[in-house]
Amino acid sequence: MQTLIRTPEDVWVGRIVAGDEPRLLSFLARPEIDALFVKPLSMRSVSLEARIRRGTIWIEARIGLETVGCRAIIFDPGELSATLSTFAVDPRVQGQGIGSLVYEESLRLARTFHPVKIRTDSWEGNVVAAHLARKYGLQQVDAYLDPARRPLGIRTVVYELALERPDRTR
Ligand SMILES: CC(C)(COP(=O)(O)OP(=O)(O)OC[C@H]1O[C@@H](n2cnc3c(N)ncnc32)[C@H](O)[C@@H]1OP(=O)(O)O)[C@@H](O)C(=O)NCCC(=O)NCCS
Repeated sequence: MQTLIRTPEDVWVGRIVAGDEPRLLSFLARPEIDALFVKPLSMRSVSLEARIRRGTIWIEARIGLETVGCRAIIFDPGELSATLSTFAVDPRVQGQGIGSLVYEESLRLARTFHPVKIRTDSWEGNVVAAHLARKYGLQQVDAYLDPARRPLGIRTVVYELALERPDRTR
């Protein structure tokens, strides 16, 4: 494994701005990033371009000018829910805390929409995603077979964090 960082201080994590989408697209289209997902994103029904448009906010992790991680927040104003999606860290720098930084920033930004719940999903057997969900207070609420998005027999696992309804009377 090639090490790109020595300290978490080398990493920038934040919201992307208009014009940054092509960089995100190039990151997600890299074969080694695509292959992190079960199924790979290139085998899903939603194209990468549509996936990027679907995000209300995108969070990027960068080392210098290089994208090394990302996550989308999709806010649903009808349900007052925020869904965290498309979470990946470059395999060369996994296990060094970058995913946790992205998780913390995605939860912080998701809360700015005042959702009543924050959801995310993963696939059965993804122990790192399960560990991080637990670490940040999300609980497993569902698991179901999902042949359109997962290989045969592998369940989608849904995690949720229920939040207080904002008190609008104050
Ligand atoms: C999930 C992912 C983004 C995490 O990124 P990362 O930079 O490696 O994350 P971090 O280094 O911050 O944290 C990894 C955590 O998993 C833990 N972990 C690693 N291997 C583990 C294992 N086999 N079992 C349980 N926990 C494990 C680490 O100890 C660490 O926990 P800690 O913060 O409590 O010490 C990255 O693994 C990835 O891209 N995976 C493939 C895509 C994916 O699974 N996306 C999520 C579902 S869409």
